[in-house]
Formats: sequence, structure tokens, C-alpha cells
Amino acid sequence: MRVLVLGSGGREHALARALHRDPAVTALHCAPGNPGTAEIADNHQLDPADPAAVTELAARLRVELVVVGPEAPLVAGVGDALRAAGVPCFGPDREAARIEGSKAFAKEIMSAAGVPTADARVCGSRAEAEAALDAFGPPYVVKDDGLAAGKGVVVTEDRAAALAHAEACERVVIEEFLDGPEVSLFALCDGRHAVPLPPAQDFKRALDGDAGPNTGGMGAYTPLPWAPDGLVDEVMSTVVQPTLDELRRRETPYVGVLYAGLALTSRGVRVVEFNARFGDPETQVVLDRLATPIATLLQACAIGGLDPDLRPEWHPGAAVTVVVAAEGYPASPTKGDEITGLAEADAVDGAYVLQAGTKLDMSDGRLVASGGRVLSVVGTGADLAQARAAAYRAVSEIGLRGSHHRTDIALKAAEAVS
Ligand code: AMP
Ligand code: GLY
Repeated sequence: MRVLVLGSGGREHALARALHRDPAVTALHCAPGNPGTAEIADNHQLDPADPAAVTELAARLRVELVVVGPEAPLVAGVGDALRAAGVPCFGPDREAARIEGSKAFAKEIMSAAGVPTADARVCGSRAEAEAALDAFGPPYVVKDDGLAAGKGVVVTEDRAAALAHAEACERVVIEEFLDGPEVSLFALCDGRHAVPLPPAQDFKRALDGDAGPNTGGMGAYTPLPWAPDGLVDEVMSTVVQPTLDELRRRETPYVGVLYAGLALTSRGVRVVEFNARFGDPETQVVLDRLATPIATLLQACAIGGLDPDLRPEWHPGAAVTVVVAAEGYPASPTKGDEITGLAEADAVDGAYVLQAGTKLDMSDGRLVASGGRVLSVVGTGADLAQARAAAYRAVSEIGLRGSHHRTDIALKAAEAVS
């Protein structure tokens, strides 16, 4: 199978790595990819959110599957364009991708489908925002209604800060605060049926102890030894399937991965958000555990032939990923500094490095930082403690001036089972 992966981050490097392992994949392309994907695939320089350019490339390479990594191409209609051209695409059409692109649309679908989520109000003026803040009370949760790469959400006890965020956005969703741990669950969907991947947990705040600003995600791990039995089945029947059914009823069938961001609250499971793509960095750990070849699975979704009774096979043990972020991330990441120690990190037993925000310096070919989240260092082992140890040993080999990472990824979960 000839496959094209769109995107350039750690998630795409993980997807490319999983596809590369699949013997059915005879040609692997990435657009634009990064220096990490270049080691296992052919990179093509193009804007992955340009539907005409992507369709032209897919036709020229005669690919039989396009896997869309980030949300921007989906929202730009790359899925629509590929399907119109007869190219199987793992990733929803523009309309269905609004489940991520518009918080208000996601709430509308959940309400129609009876999916449990936080009570919320859509606010377009200061007066509406003030009324909603006072109705829900602190902690305040204020979300930009547009796409904000996980950074458009403010959760704060400070009413003035909550109001300031609301005023800085055109339209916001203000909602009830959800207590309880968060879980990311990915379901592979073919428009009608869905197959779950094992849940993972992401660390959204920049600093240890969940302090600091929200980020795209600073680390992740799987499995979740503390998750209640039956969680996946419950989420599939109360969240994923009703959402798929509602989107199909609206004649916008959902093809791709439906990412349910969940809070396990004292009152039960609630959806915090949906994303129309794989989570980053959760994908790095979930795909590490996948034993079933991935290409056929994703292609079955893309062409509408997913076997709903299929249960993918998983490697036993655990995976932990630690994101190495550039100085100043998330506010204003410093770019251009050299990254060293990759070979040494890769040589650590049970660990490997996925590249995220990297590029080769044009003048001398050195690997330099080009984005906020620079590397995603994965550790694996028989349990979370071993996987953490491998990941952090590998992180300690990395050199990048001013970089930072969290030191507590999967710490509580590992301690709880030991
Ligand atoms: P979102 O972009 O909707 O995923 O929000 C980003 C992060 O903000 C989530 O992962 C949560 O940590 C936090 N958050 C969002 N909505 C709520 C909520 N209703 N209650 C508590 N925390 C929330
Ligand atoms: N890890 C969170 C996200 O991908 O949005």
C-alpha cells in the first residue's frame, strides 16, 4: 500500500513510524514531514492545508491512503478534496471536522446525541460573558470558539482574567468546571462503526505539578492502571457511537479518528472536548503499543469497511513520552538552537526519539529547533516505572540550550501501582 501522511510534528513521526513497521506499506511519503520522518519516508515540501496541492501530490504518487495528522488540513477541506478525487482519506470532511473546529458545534452535536458534557453557554458579548461567569461561578472555564491548538482555553479562579479572555475572543463558550482526572480516548471510525484504541493521559500544563500555562501537551502515558474497569466500553456506547450516529444522521459521516477528551468526574464521565485528529503527544504512546498492522486498519476506515468487532492487538507493558520544549514555550518559543544527543538518546535501552519541531539548518545541516515542542522522547518497559526511567534517561542525553520538560510525567500513576 502506498501511503501519504500529512503534517510535521511528533504525532506524524509516530504515525510514520507505525506505518513503516507495517509490511503492507510499500511506499511511505510525508508532507511536509520533518528530519525524523525523512529517515523512514520521502518528505515532500508542500502546505498540507492546501487541498489542491495535496490532491495533486496524492495523484502523482498514486497513494492508496492519505492519513491526515493535524486539524488545519481537515478544516481547510483536504478530506473533501481527496474523497472527491477518489483517494481514500483517513480524516473527516470539513463539515464533520467542525466537531473540533467549533466548540459551539461540538456542544450542539453532544446535546442532540445525548452525550454527557459540561453545561455551557455560547457568549458573543461582554454582558453575556459576565452573566455566564456568574451563573457557573469559579473556577471559570472560558474557551475561544475557534481553533486554537489547545491553547484557547483559560481555566482560572480569577474573574477578571476570565472576562479578559472572553473579551479578547470574538465568541466564547463559557462552561461548568469539570473536576476529576482527564483521559484521552481515540476511536477509529469509518462513518458508521468505531474501534477504540487504549486510553492515554496527557499533561497539558507547562510545568511540574500541573502549574503554568496550558500547552499542546507536555507528555503522555498508557496504560492507565487507575482507570475504572469498563471505561472504554462505557465511552464507546455513551459518547462515541451516539456522536457517530448523529453526524451520520446529518449526512456528514465521520471518517477518521474521533478523539474524546474526557473528565472522570464525581458525577460520571463527561466530554471535555472532541478533536478530529490524533492527540499529540498521546499518539506517540498509544501507537507504540499497537501490535496490529496499522495501514489496513486506517484504510478500512477511509473506505468504509471497518469490522466493528475487530479488536486490535496490543503489546503488553507501558509507554511514556516526555516532550522536550524550546525555551519560552508556549508563549514565545526560541527557534534555531542546535539539538544534540539524539543518537545517544536513541541508544538508551527501551527508548527512542520522535522529532516534532525540528529542521536541518540550511547552511550547515545541523539539526535545530523550529517549533515549540521540539522532541517527543518515548520510553517503554514492562510497567510505567520502567517506561518512565527509560524516557528520562534518554531525555538526559538531549542537549538544547534553554529547553524545558516536565519531570513528573506518569509519576503518580507509576507510584500508585508500585
Ligand atoms: P480543551 O481545548 O477544551 O481541551 O481544553 C483544554 C484543557 O482545559 C482541558 O484539557 C482541560 O484541562 C481544561 N478544561 C477544559 N474544559 C474544562 C472544564 N469544563 N472543566 C475543567 N477543565 C477544563
Ligand atoms: N494532547 C492534546 C491535543 O492533542 O490536543
